Amino acid sequence: MPERILVCTAWPYANASLHPGHMAGVYVPADTFARFQRLRGNEVLMVSGSDCHGTPITVRAEQEGVSPAEIAARFHQEFLGYWERLGISYDLYTTTMTDNHRRVTQDIFLKLLRQGDIFTQTMVSPYDPVVGRFLPDRYVEGTCPNCGYPRARGDQCDNCGRPLDPQQLIDPRSTLSGQPPQFRETEHFFLDLRRVNAVLLEWARQQTQWRPNVYNFTIRYLEDGLQPRAITRDIEWGIPIPVAGYEDKRIYVWFEAVIGYLSASVEWAALRGEPDAWERWWKQPSRSYYFIGKDNIVFHTVIWPGELMAYGGLNLPYDVPSNEFMNYEGEKFSKSRGVGIFMPELLEQFDPDPIRYYLTANAPEQADSDFSLRELVRRNNDELVATWGNLVHRTLTFVQRYFEGRAPRPGGDPLVQEEIERACAAVTAGLEAARFKDTLGEAFALARFGNRYFDEKAPWKLVKQDREACAAILGDLLHIVNALKVLLAPFLPFSSARLHTLLGYQDSLEARGWRMEPLPTGQPLPPPTPLFTKLE
Ligand code: MF3
Ligand code: ZN
Repeated sequence: MPERILVCTAWPYANASLHPGHMAGVYVPADTFARFQRLRGNEVLMVSGSDCHGTPITVRAEQEGVSPAEIAARFHQEFLGYWERLGISYDLYTTTMTDNHRRVTQDIFLKLLRQGDIFTQTMVSPYDPVVGRFLPDRYVEGTCPNCGYPRARGDQCDNCGRPLDPQQLIDPRSTLSGQPPQFRETEHFFLDLRRVNAVLLEWARQQTQWRPNVYNFTIRYLEDGLQPRAITRDIEWGIPIPVAGYEDKRIYVWFEAVIGYLSASVEWAALRGEPDAWERWWKQPSRSYYFIGKDNIVFHTVIWPGELMAYGGLNLPYDVPSNEFMNYEGEKFSKSRGVGIFMPELLEQFDPDPIRYYLTANAPEQADSDFSLRELVRRNNDELVATWGNLVHRTLTFVQRYFEGRAPRPGGDPLVQEEIERACAAVTAGLEAARFKDTLGEAFALARFGNRYFDEKAPWKLVKQDREACAAILGDLLHIVNALKVLLAPFLPFSSARLHTLLGYQDSLEARGWRMEPLPTGQPLPPPTPLFTKLE
C-alpha cells in the first residue's frame, strides 16, 4: 500500500543569498528523502516557499532604499534558480506574498479568534523616540536573559534558540538609533498557548521517532510552561489583520510563515485543477516531515502544532529532522564579514552531484560541521571519481571491449547477492529514518566492495583463459552497478539518471522504482563516458 508523505522544508527569508550550510542542513536532505519516497512508490507532496514578510525583509529594504516587495521578489527568483540547478524537486515552491496564503492565514486567525485562542491585550512595546516608531523584533538588540548572549534580538536569541519578547532583553537598544528604547503601550493580538500546553506535551511525549535533541528540547520547553505570545506587530509590511480597527498593524511573520506549509499544499492542489487534493496529506492518514535548522525547532514542534491543534482537523508533524549548523572553516558564514562562499558562486563552479555528495557526506547531522572547498574537491576526486566513478567506468569499458557492449548473464555469486542485499537493507532503513550521512556511507561500502571484487577476480586475465567465467563476473559487476545506480539516485540524481542511460535503458530510472535488479542479459550498452570529472 503506497503511503502519503508530506515533505516540508523551512521557508528561507528572502533577504539574502543562501549558503551551503542551508543546503546541507535542510534542502539537500529533504530532497534526498522525497526522491527516496517517490522511488519506493509512495505518494509524495513536497512544498515550501520564500518567507517574504517581517523585519528580516524590511531591514534589508531600508538598507538598500527599495521596497520590501522588491527585495523579496529578487531573492525568491534567486532561490528558484538554486532548486533548479541542484535538483531540489519541489512540487511547489511558492512565497508568502500570494493571495492564497493571505486567505488561509486570515481564515486560521479568525477561527482561533472566534474560539478564544487569540485575544487582544495592551502591552508595552519598545518605541524609538528618535525615529518616532515602534521597534518590532529585529529592530531591538540586547542581552539574552536565558543564556547571556550579548547580541540577542527582540524575537529570538541566536545563541540558545529561545524565542524572546523584546521586553525580556537586558540592556536593550534600538538598531535604528542605537539608543535605549522607551516602552510604550500598544494593543496586540495574542495566541493563548496556555490552552494547548497540556495536549501539546502529551502529544510530544509520544513522538519517540524525533531525534533526541528535538525531543528533549521540546519536552523541556513544554514542561517549563507556555505563555500567550503576541502574534501581531506595529509594522506596515506583512499580512493585514482581518479585523477592523487594526489597519496599521500586521500579523507576525512567524505566526503566518508556518501556515505556508498548509497554504502551499492548497495552492498546489488548485494549480493542478484538483482543489481538494491537498486534503490527502492533511486530513487523511499521512506522515509529514519538516526539514529545518536547529534554530527553528520550537516553531515546528510547539508553535505550529499548537496552531494546528487549536484549529483542529489537520495532521500534526510526524517528524522534524533538525540539523546542526555547517560553518565555514571554523567560522559562521557571513556575507557582511566576507566569511564563506554563497550559493550563486558555488553553483557556478561545480556540478550539482559533487555538491550534493559533499554536503551529505559532511552533513551537520549529529554535530556542527565545517565546509571547505578543499574537502569538496578532495572528496569528489577520491570518492566520486576514484571509487564510484571508477567502478562504473572500468565495468562498462570492459563490457564494451570484450563483450561487444552487451550485458553478460550474471554468474549469481552468492557473495555478490549478499553484499547487494546488505547495502539495500541498510540504505532503505537509513533513509526511512531520515539519516543521510551514514546512509550514503553504506551505499559507498558496496562501491568499494565492487572495486575489490573487480581487482580480486582480475577479469583482464580471466578473459584470456575462461571467457565464460569472465562473462559471469562482469554480469555480477553490472548487477552491483545497477543496484548502486538506484541506491544512489536519491543522493546523486543527475549521475544516476545518466548512468541509467549508459546501462542501456530507454525508460526513466523513476519508472522502475526502488528495485535492485540485474541488467537484462544481452541488453546493448552505448559507448561509456565517465560519470564524474576530476577537479583541481
Ligand atoms: N524564515 C525562517 C528562517 O529563515 C524560517 C521559517 S520556517 C517557516 O529562519 F516554516 F516558518 F516558514
Ligand atoms: Zn540566549
